[in-house]
Amino acid sequence: MTHLTYFRSYVWGLLIFTVAVIISGDIVQSTESGAGCGDSWPKCEGSLVPAIENIHTAIEFIHRALTSVLSVGYLGLLAWSYLLFGRRHLVWQSVLFSSFVLLLEILIGAALVFFGWVEDDASWGRVIVDSLHVVNTLILLASLVVILFWASESENRSISKEYSRGRFLIAAIGVVMVITITGTLNSLADTLYFSDQVIVEETPIAQLLVSVRAVHPLIAIIGAFLIVGSIYMVMEDPKATYSGLAFGIFGILFLQVIVGILNIALLTPVEIQIIHLSLADALWVLLIFFSLYNYSSEKHTTT
Ligand code: HEM
Repeated sequence: MTHLTYFRSYVWGLLIFTVAVIISGDIVQSTESGAGCGDSWPKCEGSLVPAIENIHTAIEFIHRALTSVLSVGYLGLLAWSYLLFGRRHLVWQSVLFSSFVLLLEILIGAALVFFGWVEDDASWGRVIVDSLHVVNTLILLASLVVILFWASESENRSISKEYSRGRFLIAAIGVVMVITITGTLNSLADTLYFSDQVIVEETPIAQLLVSVRAVHPLIAIIGAFLIVGSIYMVMEDPKATYSGLAFGIFGILFLQVIVGILNIALLTPVEIQIIHLSLADALWVLLIFFSLYNYSSEKHTTT
């Protein structure tokens, strides 16, 4: 294996690990463990390795520990990409951007703890910051895909400014973002609804969130058609490439609708939530790869 192949495998590892951190964050929310480490941050219950006295402390501590491992992984990524590509290269610039997004992700997570937007809190602050959190998470995953793309294709492809079907890709990306935000709010509504500490009828924001729970499935089903339509428009172009990714996206959309229905029918058990969230992340990763390949064109090589 060459250095470049090792580097790409490392970034793939970071991407998969990031999805694991996202899922652990979801488990924190659905088990109402956000205050499991008290209000201390970055320490847990005031110490680096807390005494695990209850399951909530264990869950929140594991999530924080995974975030720390991811941050160390990013330090390695920064050093390695600089040494391998140099500071003018697109890979290094994408790594810098991705590291900034990771930093924001950590700060948003810390804000949730500091301001008490966890457990059974039902405030506008939590609604807004949870939505920002998920958008930032999507950008973080996308930035890792961009690194992988440039680490594989910077010799062969360049972004094509004349590409006329880019608007369909941007529309599909926007639709996935909206579906994901509404899904996150749906998940928050369920957490509050099933909480022993919240009387929904007496908590206006919880009541509002619970009353609009039908919005996410509705938007997701309409959105799925819009995404399929947009990708179809891209594939209609004779120069369209990587149609295998497009079929992957269609397959995940189909599965996601079935899992979404199961989620409702089984009253959102944590296992189904994890599958639903993993599929949402997989959909996003494939869509960003597909967009990058179609937004770029092959560089002309002189023989
Ligand atoms: C088509 C693409 C879809 C995407 C990308 C998507 C994405 C998401 C995301 C990101 C979440 C938040 C997960 C979490 O934080 O736990 C979520 C939650 C949820 N989704 Fe979807 N979803 C889709 C379709 C659907 C459909 C069609 C349904 C129902 C028919 C559905 C039902 C639900 C429910 C009930 C929740 C809340 C689960 C919980 O309490 O955690 N979803 N969705």
